[in-house]
Amino acid sequence: MTTANLNPERATEAVEGRRTFISWITAGALVLSAGLMGIFNLIFLRPRVTYGPPSKFRVGKPDGYSSGAEVVFPAARVVVRRRGDEFAAISLVCTHLGCVVNPTDSGFDCPCHGSKYDSAGNVVAGPAPKRLSWYRIAQAPNGELEVDKRKEVDSGTYLEVKA
Ligand code: FES
Repeated sequence: MTTANLNPERATEAVEGRRTFISWITAGALVLSAGLMGIFNLIFLRPRVTYGPPSKFRVGKPDGYSSGAEVVFPAARVVVRRRGDEFAAISLVCTHLGCVVNPTDSGFDCPCHGSKYDSAGNVVAGPAPKRLSWYRIAQAPNGELEVDKRKEVDSGTYLEVKA
């Protein structure tokens, strides 16, 4: 086919049709990319943080602990100890470089560099520079025990709970 055989009006309509089609495709692509960019910007602006467990948390009612019990709360890295009618909360975070210590029959052992603590959390063998932290433990209005990791107490501080 040669251009001499084309109707000039039809040729103009065909060209206009192609232009309109290409315009619509271009506009669609621009709107789509702007929308995707907006979505990704919103995703980017949203903070990507993981919040640790709360520093103040409840650990159940006193009667849930038998006398002499030591209950580990792994997420909080705390052990709650019952001695008679008294309760204490002791940190399981090694004071050397922050590994989680394991409770043992004689106290706590750190698996990372070998520090050892007695049952009160005092350093028995280094390299840990200081004792394990003891945290304030109180009784909530509903009777549950509540540990507050923001408040350290002296080693050997127990909460007495009356039955
Ligand atoms: S982190 Fe516990 S001994 Fe190093």
